[in-house]
Amino acid sequence: MKISIVGGGYVGLVTSACLADLGHDVTVIDLDPAKVQQINEKNPPLCEEHLEDLLKNTVGKSLHATTRFDSITSSELTILCVGTPRNMDGSADLGFIESASRSIGTALKDARDYHVVVVKSTVPPGTTETVVRPIVLKAAQKKETEIGFVMNPEFLREGLAVTDFMHPDRIVIGGNESRAGDIVAQVYKDIPAPVIRTGTQEAEMIKYASNAFLATKISFSNEIGNVCKHLGIDVYAVMQGVGRDHRIGPQFLNAGAGYGGSCFPKDVSALIALAEQTGEDPVLLKSVQDVNERQPSRMVALLEEKIGVLAGKRIAVLGLAFKDNTDDIRDSRSIPVIRELLDKGAFIIAFDPMAMPNMKQILPEITYAETVADALVGADGCLVMTEWPEFKKIDKEFDCMAHPVIIEGRRILSRKGVVGICWQVGNRP
Ligand code: UGA
Repeated sequence: MKISIVGGGYVGLVTSACLADLGHDVTVIDLDPAKVQQINEKNPPLCEEHLEDLLKNTVGKSLHATTRFDSITSSELTILCVGTPRNMDGSADLGFIESASRSIGTALKDARDYHVVVVKSTVPPGTTETVVRPIVLKAAQKKETEIGFVMNPEFLREGLAVTDFMHPDRIVIGGNESRAGDIVAQVYKDIPAPVIRTGTQEAEMIKYASNAFLATKISFSNEIGNVCKHLGIDVYAVMQGVGRDHRIGPQFLNAGAGYGGSCFPKDVSALIALAEQTGEDPVLLKSVQDVNERQPSRMVALLEEKIGVLAGKRIAVLGLAFKDNTDDIRDSRSIPVIRELLDKGAFIIAFDPMAMPNMKQILPEITYAETVADALVGADGCLVMTEWPEFKKIDKEFDCMAHPVIIEGRRILSRKGVVGICWQVGNRP
């Protein structure tokens, strides 16, 4: 099938590369010429496992990148993968959705055949029907029957997006016209997964509710962990027992410094804003967010408890990315922690295997170390903020600290005496 994809971020590019690998003829459109050039040179502009191999196999054959929207005119289907950032009030900013819809509509003016516009971006319920549909139809000067609209949410984790795309738990196809939905089902025919057909609004809400539920599991574990710490109980052992109940499930019960990234914080806020617009008071979602916002301060409070006043102290922060295997720092829990340490007058020396160039752009005032050992030499305390597997191996480097006070916000170290944010010292399995 001939497919155009608008947006070459991690969702758009992974979707493009995977669909091209599945045999579709794909054009990915991005307004950034540097990114387009990198893709066409088979050089991934973002860190995603397996992406480079997919680009090597597909670019120049079934995958092309461009800054122009022309390919849409002769495509059967266009997938919208642009970002929906957070507005000041927490709601979703639909600016990119609106401008991309106008460009898609303009390109469809000269289209001769039936076309399907698929919204993959995370958008508030109603957006496909009340924003995308009218903008595209108006710009294309077409009738309702000439263009179909489908909402098809993505459930891709950064770093694991290719695997998640090829092996999904489900494929959700939200469309009010069966013709458009049937065409989208054909796109995924070689991926073995249950297909759930719904209306567009239900598909839009499935995405928000899924992310909000996963965020709820994390905040729940964090709250239980905070209580466990006072009682000398190991929350990881508790959640192992809890997660074995198949009605609960073992995933996303890892307690720690809270969730970050480009999705959970933004989507929970957007759902809260949406609920409030309907006149509801979303008390559960607000508490999920509240628990998450309080976790980083617990790291700093623990450090103060162990080493006293932080002014003038040298603090090593290991891990800046919002999770391991990515250079993404968006809403990383390390940011509020570092800001609080700076406010208290500490001297910060940070290390991350991938995310330091990104963090330097928003926090140029701290020092960045070339290695874990450089960060730890002479440090009065160390905070571990990201679950990088390589941090598991750190051992003798800790001996170079001035005071071996190590606090982990992710359960990753195996060294004796490490203090957990919400688990007790020493009681690890
Ligand atoms: C998340 C969802 O997992 C995807 O299904 C979804 O498609 C994506 O958002 C999106 O909306 O596009 P992602 O943000 O890449 O994916 O990262 P996750 O692996 O879900 O982790 C999010 C945060 O939660 C990280 O900071 C991680 O450290 C934290 N986390 C995760 C925990 O604190 N505990 C856990 O048990 C799991």
